[in-house]
Amino acid sequence: IRNTDFLKKLGIQDRNAGAYFGNGEWSQTRDAGEIEATNPATGEVIARVYGASEADYERVISTGRDVFAEWRKVPAPRRGEAVRLCTEALRRYKDELGSLVSLEMGKIKAEGDGEVQEMIDIGDFAVGQSRMLYGKTMHSERDQHRMYEQWHPYGVVGIISAFNFPVAVWSWNAFIAAICGNVSVWKPSPKGALACIAVQNICNEALEAGGFPPIFLSFMEPGHALAERFVDDKRVDLMSFTGSTAVGRQVGERVAARMGRSLLELGGNNAIIVDETADLKIAIPGIVFGAVGTAGQRCTTTRRLFVHESIHEPVIEALKSAYGQVRIGDPLDPETLMGPLTDAASVERFEQAVASAQQAGGTVLTGGKRIDRAGFFVEPTLIEARNDFEVVQSETFAPILYVIPFTSLDDAIRMQNDVPQGLSSALFTTNLRNAERFLSATGSDCGIANVNIGTSGAEIGGAFGGEKETGGGRESGSDAWKAYMRRQTNTINWGTELPLAQGIRFGL
Ligand code: UN1
Repeated sequence: IRNTDFLKKLGIQDRNAGAYFGNGEWSQTRDAGEIEATNPATGEVIARVYGASEADYERVISTGRDVFAEWRKVPAPRRGEAVRLCTEALRRYKDELGSLVSLEMGKIKAEGDGEVQEMIDIGDFAVGQSRMLYGKTMHSERDQHRMYEQWHPYGVVGIISAFNFPVAVWSWNAFIAAICGNVSVWKPSPKGALACIAVQNICNEALEAGGFPPIFLSFMEPGHALAERFVDDKRVDLMSFTGSTAVGRQVGERVAARMGRSLLELGGNNAIIVDETADLKIAIPGIVFGAVGTAGQRCTTTRRLFVHESIHEPVIEALKSAYGQVRIGDPLDPETLMGPLTDAASVERFEQAVASAQQAGGTVLTGGKRIDRAGFFVEPTLIEARNDFEVVQSETFAPILYVIPFTSLDDAIRMQNDVPQGLSSALFTTNLRNAERFLSATGSDCGIANVNIGTSGAEIGGAFGGEKETGGGRESGSDAWKAYMRRQTNTINWGTELPLAQGIRFGL
């Protein structure tokens, strides 16, 4: 690493504590394992984080409950002020935090900065939303009665986040949860431990300076023993989990078994359809950003490409040439477009996926190999495939794009939907009828469906999430805040009689 001044500015030390109790206090535990925060571009250890102990975990959760008991009384616009201060602090630290995300996760600096911008954007959104936690008023069927609904906070919101968006996904949950009156407890991926510490430091300072209580708490561990305890913990009212479908299924089942609520953001298998009328000038860069951006490690990464047979050749030629120009290397170098995968296991999964596609009859058009250098680099890869290959049906977190030709839009939409996942989808077209067909009830079955925009890079203003094995959760904008509150229906009789609903007479 050439210049690590940003680590110091963010309060990252060689060895860091792994649980935050609020009011500037971090855990003292040194014997519950260690996380080695590693730079995936070199394999070098950046810093270490001590795992939290069971006692630390207990203290984090009980602090969360105590803080909630007071926080729920704070008027929502005032809660918005706490988030506003955090957002202002994030603006000041954007460059440093963007660099840390890039260093620890391996995404390029522009995407690291973009992720912090996404935190700032959702922070601003949450501040506005804090004055708009609207409920409905209904007309009662009874005379001199008033009926309405209001929204109350749950309590403690658990956030388990993934390595690929180590800070933005936390903020979607934590900032909205906070203005709704909840306290959040964050268990980051061990691969995002330093990013968690940095965000915690930035927000702690802002909250303390503003005289606010510690509404953002966290704990870290190298394994998953505490995470399991967390998932099963009745004191955690809502569990927001981002990660694989396999783990998310377990989380959903375990939270449901204790009648808790869960919000699941799981795997995607996102496709772009390019019809015969598409403007390739925007389609090609849209495909390349979607498939190669973040080295294919977004849940919204474009994994399948359906190309109309009449333009199949020119599209493949354009993509091959674009793929040949992708500059791969140090994510912090401003010239780089694609960094490494997160770890050695991801490189193996990439190789297995390529081999599996070939065995099934697929043809590698470009890429397909790991890159022989330090760190976890692979080539951006295009494979001519069929939608029913097992490997095409599953999500491999790597820059592999499966190209599949089609003859009619109906076929393309049918194949696009014919996967277990349902996160993001896109159609490139200049044909109005095709566009509307794709967006209709008989079109894409995904939570996100775009026209003339790729599958990734969603704005925070909309609700983010997907259907089927993607888990059904919605986070971020629109009315996703409702997931962090409990709805209460209130009926008030301001008259002197007691009429019963449905006209029931119950005379004594
Ligand atoms: C994720 O990959 O977990 O739409 C989230 C996008 C980003 C968020 C992705 N705004 O690509």
